[in-house]
Amino acid sequence: MSFELLSSKFEELYQQPADAISIAPGRVNLIGEHTDYSDGFVLPCALEYATRVLYRPRADDKIVVHSMSYPGEKDEFSVSGDIAKGDSQWGNYIRGMAFVFKRAGFTLKGVDLLIESDVPQGCGLSSSAALEVAIGGVFNTIAELGLSAQRIALLGQECENDFMDIKCGIMDQLISAEGEKSHALLIDCENLKTEAISIPEDLSIVIVNSNYKRKLVGSEYNNRRIDCEQAASKMGIKVLRSATMAMLADAKPQLSENEYKRAHHVITENARVIAATVALKNNDMDALRELMTGSHVSLRDDFEVTVPATDGLVNICQAALGERGAVRMTGGGFGGAIVCLCRADDVDAIKTAVEEQYYAQFNLTADIYVCKAGHGLTVQALATA
Ligand code: GLA
Repeated sequence: MSFELLSSKFEELYQQPADAISIAPGRVNLIGEHTDYSDGFVLPCALEYATRVLYRPRADDKIVVHSMSYPGEKDEFSVSGDIAKGDSQWGNYIRGMAFVFKRAGFTLKGVDLLIESDVPQGCGLSSSAALEVAIGGVFNTIAELGLSAQRIALLGQECENDFMDIKCGIMDQLISAEGEKSHALLIDCENLKTEAISIPEDLSIVIVNSNYKRKLVGSEYNNRRIDCEQAASKMGIKVLRSATMAMLADAKPQLSENEYKRAHHVITENARVIAATVALKNNDMDALRELMTGSHVSLRDDFEVTVPATDGLVNICQAALGERGAVRMTGGGFGGAIVCLCRADDVDAIKTAVEEQYYAQFNLTADIYVCKAGHGLTVQALATA
């Protein structure tokens, strides 16, 4: 949607023009899946698809919110009283952000909000993190809190953990807040240090959404986290970040089969992220392919978060690209999207193969996005006429 249309919608809803805009992107994770909540390594990049929030401070203590995706619906609550969940699922992300800002002792101010997003929803590209971070950007700016992008990301994670009851790690919110154009970020989730890794000019990032309807994502996700925590505790360590293959072998008799497999995934995936960072720097497609294939197999067999549709899509795209590309599932799993890295000339091979084979095999139609790495959170005042 054009900016002009969005601004005029704001004016129509609130009878005044917007003051400013907060923009936060979705993300695609290149490698390092289900490692963040074990304090491991991840290598995501922000997308150019983003959530935009137009806003204008109000004189009272109310937060009023409309979304272009849900016309006719609105949510409204006061920042003075206790903040609880409301009837609107999407409105709860704004309530959740207000809740965690208040809990942290920050002053909130009344504001009119209009949300618009082109981040594909429900396929593991972090549309909810983009919303949390964009809203964090609004609250930070209007109350002049001076928070860092990292602090806003941590508040977004708290919103997800404590208000939405998804015990996610920090990857999605951190990359949405700190992403850098044309770069992936190697994030060390133990101390949140980041290193920007330039994405080679000739590398295309192709996301294929399986459109498989995800079920029980929240509960299964939380169960995986519990498996990891129990494995760590039985190994006598706080988090799996510090586990080694030798420690895992020693602890095997004490671990359940699932705990063993989850820990095996995390230990091997962390090593793959470090190797993939080197491969990306060297634009080494053979190494990227080997590592991304290894990641997918581990997520399928050890972590058990793939489904036949995403396994099938990975097979279709990998066969179409052969030695010219690297493919794996991306995001939390249980459906969602896969990511392919290849040269621009080979993107059509993916499109053709998916078109010819995916529906025939799974009775589903996939959406394909050819992406570039975008920038993290930006908050900008708007020029008033
Ligand atoms: C979801 C979570 C992240 C991360 C991924 C899996 O996107 O929000 O914190 O755990 O799943 O890598």
